[in-house]
Amino acid sequence: MKGYGPETFGTLNAEDYDLLHDPGTTDAAVDLLADLSRDQRTLELAIGTGRIALPMARRGCDISGIEASPEMVAKLREKPGGEAIPVTMGDMSEVLADGRFGFIFLIFNTLFNLTSQEAQLRCFRNAASMLDPGGAFLVEAFVPDIAQFRDHRSLKPKHLDRHSLTLEAAIHDPVKQVVEYQYLRFTPEGVRMTPLPMRYAWPSEIDLMARLAGLQLESRWGGWDRAAFTASTRMHISLYRKPAGRQPL
Ligand SMILES: C[S@@+](CC[C@H](N)C(=O)[O-])C[C@H]1O[C@@H](n2cnc3c(N)ncnc32)[C@H](O)[C@@H]1O
Repeated sequence: MKGYGPETFGTLNAEDYDLLHDPGTTDAAVDLLADLSRDQRTLELAIGTGRIALPMARRGCDISGIEASPEMVAKLREKPGGEAIPVTMGDMSEVLADGRFGFIFLIFNTLFNLTSQEAQLRCFRNAASMLDPGGAFLVEAFVPDIAQFRDHRSLKPKHLDRHSLTLEAAIHDPVKQVVEYQYLRFTPEGVRMTPLPMRYAWPSEIDLMARLAGLQLESRWGGWDRAAFTASTRMHISLYRKPAGRQPL
């Protein structure tokens, strides 16, 4: 999408990001992530407003972040405890946080905010390079559903009430696996447009990116409660491990 970069998500969404995201799923995610983090140095790629990192820090996790958007980090800094979390600013497919980590995670479909296969693979390699031997990288993403498109297009009402209507319009490029979304919110004050490009990947392609980065799939769940991943599960939480020992060339 022309004119859209790593910082654009925050410029467009930081103001009402926390209002829009369900605290119910947040609690379940924090339970699992805090358990996997245990006593290890932990890094969240695309830490955002600290929706997950702050409750993890309150549970005693040693957590840092990488984030591209100054607006999202400004929201994190406004919250109690937000000043204390180290954040490296930059593109998660390129920048390195200080030191090594035993656990790194990238959730809420944010891998797909990198809109090319090369950038996603770079992100895996970057994460792997920051992991301790034996450390783990967790990714949460939706399972693509291209049946929703007709002629590679879709238009869905997402919300309506007496005073507003939100529509999601999307155009799908099946060759690049890119979907360009435009969210249109109509209110008596006018129309607000929020664009979002995403490059989706099926779990098997994500596993291959992990392997190319030297990581091995250890577990895959279909929910934050560690539910089984099945053919009908719409999202996955995948845990990749960096081998502990020296690898043969
Ligand atoms: C859906 S939000 C998720 C934020 C947080 N992880 C959470 O679960 O609430 C996506 C975040 O990714 C950030 N982001 C998008 N592309 C990025 C990139 N290339 N490098 C670093 N951060 C990026 C956005 O600024 C935004 O904070």
